[in-house]
Amino acid sequence: MKIQSVRGMNDIFQPEITLWHKIESDIRDACRVFGFSEIRTPILEPTELFKRGVGSDTDIVEKEMYTFADRNGDSLTLRPEGTASVVRAIVEHGLLGENPTLKLYYMGPMFRHERPQKGRYRQFYQFGVELVGPDHPFADVEVLALQHLLLKKLGVDKFVELRISSVGCEQCRPAYKEKLISLLESKKSELPEDVQKRIHTNPQRIFDHKDEKVQKIAATLPVMVDSICESCRKHLNGVEEGLKAYKIPYTLDPKIVRGLDYYTQTAFEFVTDKLGAQSTVCGGGRYNKLIAELGGPESPAVGFGMGIERLSLLVQQLGAVEVDSCDVAFVYPDEKGLPVAFQLCQELRLAGLHCEIDYQGRSMKSQMKRADKLKARYTVIIGGSEIERGMAVVKDMAARSQKDVPFDQLLNSIGN
Ligand code: HAM
Repeated sequence: MKIQSVRGMNDIFQPEITLWHKIESDIRDACRVFGFSEIRTPILEPTELFKRGVGSDTDIVEKEMYTFADRNGDSLTLRPEGTASVVRAIVEHGLLGENPTLKLYYMGPMFRHERPQKGRYRQFYQFGVELVGPDHPFADVEVLALQHLLLKKLGVDKFVELRISSVGCEQCRPAYKEKLISLLESKKSELPEDVQKRIHTNPQRIFDHKDEKVQKIAATLPVMVDSICESCRKHLNGVEEGLKAYKIPYTLDPKIVRGLDYYTQTAFEFVTDKLGAQSTVCGGGRYNKLIAELGGPESPAVGFGMGIERLSLLVQQLGAVEVDSCDVAFVYPDEKGLPVAFQLCQELRLAGLHCEIDYQGRSMKSQMKRADKLKARYTVIIGGSEIERGMAVVKDMAARSQKDVPFDQLLNSIGN
């Protein structure tokens, strides 16, 4: 019996891994110009962190976490997202200390036991940033601008749309929630069981319910953004002002419901219609209370998380992935050539060229076929007669030309 990977968890290899490297390198570049530095946190955390950080009534904590007792009986969880871990680290190491502003980013695997489909996996990779300190609306715009720059660099900004809203704060949300709960109570018999169960804990989830009948009811309900207080309104206006100043297109979408409990004020998503059911490429918002809730100082913050798989699927819509090509393929017509070819191959590699050499003792024809398959720029042929002459035959594969090059001139000839 062959052993297979766990459902919803993928191996990533060529050609896609080349694209991942490009995405990761563009991410690091974008983070550098915005002044974000990397933080790496453990993949395992105490379960309590996510219960308190993400919220016990969320789908993530209720149904999707990989939680188990370790050998000491401690309850551990494979991280389902990055924000709670980053905040834990900030508090644990007092990273805010003398810094009025902390800008961190992370990349790595996250785990959620969801139903796998295209763009939705049980192990997925996330890139996220957290900007801690300022509560100015332009800080929200800064993280959105970073994301926008990345999407532009990758050529997929045309596939996505930015939607923003406000989920209110502790001043205005309770009154709205009460109103929503009482309206839902009055329609309870028309609602499916899952919405009924959440009327008191998470009534807003009705807005992202998939069922059409439920959507019709949701359309009759008031939305949070119409009930936000003066200061939340001012904040939202400030975000809009900043987005306009940076020329980042957006639409206001009062129906945005984030699946995590920590958000206050700004909530946003970059959505696409190119990935079937999984339309959200990136999601985030402001979370002004989380750091204090996890034992740190009162400190506003804003951030986002973006799925690398979803981004990679979007970039693939631009065309096939170009795999790194080979610079030089060494070919030896007879066994005498191998030790010399082997040595020259190493010299060129030390000079930074991607070189390939075959050890399977195959015919010259097969070795040439392999060089073609590798799309090698040059083929270098070394056999007994070349050794006698001290010259290699260098074939320029694109120009279909060839010349003799002394062994000690090989690097010079190929490098030019
Ligand atoms: P989230 O919306 O749960 O937010 O996830 C962010 C992104 O991760 C999604 O937009 C999606 O691209 C990707 N993602 C989520 N679940 C899956 C999955 N099962 N398979 C593939 N990709 C997935 C957060 O996680 C917050 N921590 C974001 C944040 C940071 N908010 C403030 N700071």
